[in-house]
Amino acid sequence: MRIGIIGYGYWGPQIVRNFHTLEGCEVGVVCDKSAAAQRRVKQAYPGMHVSSDAGETLSASDLDAVAVITPVWTHYELAKAALENGKHVFVEKPFTSTVAQAEELIELAEKKNLKIMVDHTFLFTGAVKKIRQLVDEGELGKLFYYDSTRVNLGLFQHDVNVIWDLAPHDLSIMDHLIKEKAEAIVATGERHLNGLEDVAYITVYFQNNLIAHINVNWLSPVKVRTTLIGGEKRMVVWNDLEADEKVKVYDKGIQITSQEGVYDLLVSYRSGDMWAPRVEQTEALKAECGYFLECVKNHTTPFNDGRAGLKVVKMLEAANQSIRERGRIVTI
Ligand SMILES: NC(=O)c1ccc[n+]([C@@H]2O[C@H](COP(=O)([O-])OP(=O)(O)OC[C@H]3O[C@@H](n4cnc5c(N)ncnc54)[C@H](O)[C@@H]3O)[C@@H](O)[C@H]2O)c1
Repeated sequence: MRIGIIGYGYWGPQIVRNFHTLEGCEVGVVCDKSAAAQRRVKQAYPGMHVSSDAGETLSASDLDAVAVITPVWTHYELAKAALENGKHVFVEKPFTSTVAQAEELIELAEKKNLKIMVDHTFLFTGAVKKIRQLVDEGELGKLFYYDSTRVNLGLFQHDVNVIWDLAPHDLSIMDHLIKEKAEAIVATGERHLNGLEDVAYITVYFQNNLIAHINVNWLSPVKVRTTLIGGEKRMVVWNDLEADEKVKVYDKGIQITSQEGVYDLLVSYRSGDMWAPRVEQTEALKAECGYFLECVKNHTTPFNDGRAGLKVVKMLEAANQSIRERGRIVTI
């Protein structure tokens, strides 16, 4: 597979490095309109073909695929041109700026028999794979809640608010772990510095009393990446900043019983062991780039395809609608 990569800002270098070192893949060109970015590419990869013109990359006849690693508002236009030119597309999260754009790209890819993969990187981490396994094997029991804190100082994006920047991670993880359908969303938040919400709180209501809460913030003095997943049988604490033991499973829970003749409910707390399952340490992006190559080669549809990307964009659109109306509940 020969791939052209557009965008060599903050995240682009990670993508270039992983496709460059992937067996069976060749990076044909790295394109960025910024001269400083082009210099950085040349310094890191002296033999690399570097371009300033996205049009040239999108129409190059010797490329099978294009990776779009540019700001969100450019994804649709660049991905559309790539598909129109017969190229498979690897595109950053969030997939597009609107639901309509995502639907159009999915239809175009299907018509052209091309693959779209949306970079939902976290789905390829050892931690999420392990949690998915625990959920699928019923270790946690019926899920009650998903509660995530994803806060840090900066990096301010110029085109999207903190929800569109940070919440796609949780929304894609939730979609991957939770079988229940999301029914409604409430989002609140405020703008303090550049006209875009920099602090926001999102609540998602799922079927069967499952509730999720996501706290995203660019104005936190400390970086926190902690997620609690509570089940009827066991609970998980996932601290992504821990070097080892990122995932901890607590055999804790509450049992409510009522006995004949006793009118009050009897609440008993179960406090069992905690253990940290072994979590794969391989780089998530390396696995994801390899999976993209495999899907293109074998004509298989990735699980993080355009439809998975669309689901996240739907939630983001609903969250934006809710935030504009100060937390009105929006059905999905
Ligand atoms: N998956 C993840 O964990 C993750 C992490 C960070 C960023 N991202 C995503 O990656 C994307 C890029 O984010 P970033 O932080 O690297 O942004 P950035 O602003 O640092 O870099 C974007 C680069 O794209 C270039 N660019 C923009 N439009 C172009 C065009 N038409 N032609 C050529 N070059 C163009 C810019 O010059 C810039 O160098 C965003 O969609 C973001 O959401 C994903």
